[in-house]
Amino acid sequence: MNRDLAHLQPYPFEKLAKLKAAVTPPTDMSHIAFSIGEPKHASPDFVVKALADNLNGLSVYPTTKGSLELRTSIANWCTRRFHLSEGVLSPEDNVLPVTGTREAIFAFTQAAVDRVPGALVVSPNPFYQIYEGAAYLAGATPHYLNCLADNNFIPDYDAVADDVWDNCQILFICSPGNPTGAVTQFDTLKKLIALADKHDFIIASDECYSEIYFDEAKPPIGLLEACEKLGRHDFDKCVVMHSLSKRSNLPGMRSGFIAGDAKLLEPFLKYRTYHGCAMQAQHQIASIAAWDDEAHVLDNRNKYREKFREVVNILSPVMEVKQPDASFYLWAKTPIADDEFAQRLFAEQHMTVLPGSYVSREVDGIVPGAGYVRMALVATLDECIEGAKRIRTFVESLT
Ligand SMILES: Cc1ncc(COP(=O)(O)O)c(C=O)c1O
Repeated sequence: MNRDLAHLQPYPFEKLAKLKAAVTPPTDMSHIAFSIGEPKHASPDFVVKALADNLNGLSVYPTTKGSLELRTSIANWCTRRFHLSEGVLSPEDNVLPVTGTREAIFAFTQAAVDRVPGALVVSPNPFYQIYEGAAYLAGATPHYLNCLADNNFIPDYDAVADDVWDNCQILFICSPGNPTGAVTQFDTLKKLIALADKHDFIIASDECYSEIYFDEAKPPIGLLEACEKLGRHDFDKCVVMHSLSKRSNLPGMRSGFIAGDAKLLEPFLKYRTYHGCAMQAQHQIASIAAWDDEAHVLDNRNKYREKFREVVNILSPVMEVKQPDASFYLWAKTPIADDEFAQRLFAEQHMTVLPGSYVSREVDGIVPGAGYVRMALVATLDECIEGAKRIRTFVESLT
């Protein structure tokens, strides 16, 4: 087998299952999970209907490039959402459908990395673990940049050494970030684009949480929008990845896209035809319905807004919690070690949260997720309120 498989770390949820297996939760309390970032709001009816109405799509092999209708719908969505000049994002050259951003992150890394000695894939830390595994399997070494509270959970890019940038082949940005919800702002994107030009690397921006935000007047900026502001209409060295999983509560549909630099997408399409990950025809039709509608996305945001308001209200008197810039995660500081916090919370309150140290690596003697837990506010409002009350009771019991 491929020797690089040995580099793959257990997934955070495997570690969490072990942590929980060592204790017994109270049987008189129902379990509440704040651990997994799987949206629980209902999938939109009209998307489900579009899927069901087109099941005859099962009788055809879908093309890897996807239908022109889907690529046009995606290009139009990007143009509206990121204020792009009309026509700069071509459905023909600048957009490819993917079966979820997880797959896109992994596959793009395989296609983009040139296996030369010293090749680096640079990512935030804490992170979404696929960046790391994708780097190893592409024959590169992951290089992690700590995201700390004193820099609003954005890496200190100014502190990165020139030789790291020289060896960097892909820089992953995750904005809004998992697990911290931090948004990378325009000035930083501009600086990163200048670095990509100087040191010749690709910026891949994972923006799958971009539609979960709190201020309707201020949607998070994305990398395409930064390119637009800079007049970089060829999106040189830049790609973004988006998904319907969180935006439209469709994690099971496996639908997203990659968009940006045509010079990168053309060879990536070639890679994908071998990789064999074409989106099913009926999923393409259902995805068009989802990308073309914003009402359900606004409704979704309103639900998260209410949950954040309630949960932050309940927890802030006893814990350091703050509404994030965006996303559905609360990144909360723990008064005891994060793994002990998660284990005792499960044992005493039958609740699961994800220890921050499980989604980060030690760099320069720092494990940036240590002392934090990630709470995904994906459950119903009532469950989120009940969960927050249980966490508060637990924290109060510690003092
Ligand atoms: C940061 C980040 N990127 C990508 C994904 C993958 O999402 P999907 O493959 O459903 O689009 C997730 C899922 O939780 C995530 O948290």
